[in-house]
Amino acid sequence: MRTIALVNQKGGCGKTTTAVNLASYIADTGRRVLLVDCDPQSHASIGLGIDTDELERSTYDLFMDPAVHVRDVVHPVTDTLDVAPSNVILSAVEQQLSGQPDRENRLRRKLEACSGEYDYVLVDCPPSVGLLTFNALVACDESLVVMEPSYFSLHGALKVVETIRLVRDQLGMRKRTRVLLTMFDRRTRFAREFLREARTRFGREMFETVIRHTVRFREAANWGVSISHYAKSCGGARDYRELSEEVIADEERIAAAEYEPAAEVVESSLEPGMDEWILSQPGPHFVDGGVLFSLVAPEANEVELVGTFNDWERQHGLQLTRSTNGVWHTTVALGPGRHLYKFVIDGVWVPDPSNDNREAPNEDCVLEVYRSG
Ligand SMILES: Nc1ncnc2c1ncn2[C@@H]1O[C@H](COP(=O)(O)OP(=O)(O)OP(=O)(O)O)[C@@H](O)[C@H]1O
Ligand SMILES: [Mg+2]
Repeated sequence: MRTIALVNQKGGCGKTTTAVNLASYIADTGRRVLLVDCDPQSHASIGLGIDTDELERSTYDLFMDPAVHVRDVVHPVTDTLDVAPSNVILSAVEQQLSGQPDRENRLRRKLEACSGEYDYVLVDCPPSVGLLTFNALVACDESLVVMEPSYFSLHGALKVVETIRLVRDQLGMRKRTRVLLTMFDRRTRFAREFLREARTRFGREMFETVIRHTVRFREAANWGVSISHYAKSCGGARDYRELSEEVIADEERIAAAEYEPAAEVVESSLEPGMDEWILSQPGPHFVDGGVLFSLVAPEANEVELVGTFNDWERQHGLQLTRSTNGVWHTTVALGPGRHLYKFVIDGVWVPDPSNDNREAPNEDCVLEVYRSG
């Protein structure tokens, strides 16, 4: 039995769409597939036509009640596809299991108990790395990290890869990680560059298949059926078929336990390659730890950041660090409010060229922070 968790803490990057479509296509080959909905939003369950208001039992019971077996919870979708549905109650698990022993192994124990009943188990995770996702990572031998071409999605993917490595090292479990790019629009230069960069960064860990941006997916979600049963001829559906073939093609190697090493963890600090993402999305970014400021100044010897947050004083100025391609960057923890700032390049005060929101008369750049961090 192969067990695959679909993860990324970034919301809306295509985890559920991938879970539902991949599960459907694999099940179409006659393999027995279980989709476990581990997200209190229940989009996978709803997407497979389950009325989540009327559930007698759900994944919540799998987590909370040692006596409940997977078979007590599942609903058949087709002859070969079952779903263990969730509903909003699942969001209570995190709190109710806090401090409980063995809480990260709840799902693993339930899946182990049904290992003869399925060929594949896919677990759709919520957009966070809390206890639910952690359970999925512990329970599954493989992780499918889903990302769409965006800086935040990449950031989330790297975080997840880091977490998987932690699970692997601390619990001594073998884990395999693969990365999938979705919502890919090859007409945009940014998406093409993102793909190229992602292939460099993740190497063999990345699927050959890329899922293209497809408007029909939203329509299918509204109809409560997987795209494979709704619009088989559309491009995105063909991509998911191809993905399922790529996943199935791994079966022999997996059975022989010839695992490849999990994706190498990339440092979460900025490093070569990250620059392109910064540059392709102009202006300051919210990242873990604050706001990321960046500037291209290959000729500069020194770049500082001054603003209302340090009383415009250069002696309290924040030094930017230079990375490859002459990109300078720094992350600053800023509280909520309206901040003004400028860069000082080798002693010359200049506005941030990537921020058009300026205030007269000095052309100070404006940054509104609505939440802290
Ligand atoms: N390839 C695609 N092209 C266009 N739209 C897509 C594609 N894949 C998914 N979508 C749409 O994007 C939205 C988010 O997708 P989805 O629900 O699969 O993401 P998610 O990662 O599961 O989100 P969450 O983190 O909230 O669980 C949905 O409306 C979905 O229909
Ligand atoms: Mg989802």
